[in-house]
Amino acid sequence: MKHVYTGKTKDVYALEDGNYLLKFKDDVTGEDGKFDPGANTVGLTIDGAGKAGLRLTKFFFEILREKNIPTHYIDANIEEATMTVKPATVFGNGVEVICRYRAVGSFLRRYGMYATEGQPLDGFVEVTLKDDIRQDPPISEDALHMLGILSREEYKVLKDLTKEIGNIVKEELAKKGIDLYDIKFEFGRVGGDAHVALIDEISGGNMRAYKDGEYIEPLELERLMIVE
Ligand SMILES: Nc1ncnc2c1ncn2[C@@H]1O[C@H](COP(=O)(O)OP(=O)(O)O)[C@@H](O)[C@H]1O
Ligand SMILES: [Mg+2]
Repeated sequence: MKHVYTGKTKDVYALEDGNYLLKFKDDVTGEDGKFDPGANTVGLTIDGAGKAGLRLTKFFFEILREKNIPTHYIDANIEEATMTVKPATVFGNGVEVICRYRAVGSFLRRYGMYATEGQPLDGFVEVTLKDDIRQDPPISEDALHMLGILSREEYKVLKDLTKEIGNIVKEELAKKGIDLYDIKFEFGRVGGDAHVALIDEISGGNMRAYKDGEYIEPLELERLMIVE
């Protein structure tokens, strides 16, 4: 097993059979000890956060597999807090795709002149560059194409998959009376044909979820969603 990358919340290893192993850590993103799914720094460490994130990730990726939606998922080992995945090549140095159902977070900070807090957004898709130094700038389809990060065909697939997967997560949460405000995904090129597939994770650390108007912390979200 070869160490490939140390991320903020996961470590990445290459397995001998060519697949990757993601090790989920107890570190969560945020600032000054406060959780923030949009943050680019590790804000705090919570016991059990890694396993909880993996449990929710496994739950959603297995639903996607049943629906034949392309992802990197192979299997998960909750005890070890590891997930086996197909290796992906990311677009440029990595992009993030956000699907928004309500105006909060960076959307509200940027467009507060026009948007009001919590305003419904109907699955608005937004792409940002993974660039910590430049605070993950949003980027348009034209710029992605012009800069050679993503082709127009790939962009369309990515946008359609984002809406489809976002809606699946939203519906699963709704079954428990939970309201999804926004969610962040990562995509990459997977397999010999380099098809666009969902990679990384789908956990409480990547979304904002509310119940009865109250924000739900990632660990609590996992407890509400996964009934053992
Ligand atoms: N299937 C995959 N193939 C290659 N890289 C992946 C795959 N799934 C996730 N990754 C990458 O592994 C890293 C996971 O670690 P994480 O702590 O989330 O990193 P980051 O600090 O960049 O958010 C991310 O950079 C993500 O893009
Ligand atoms: Mg990450």
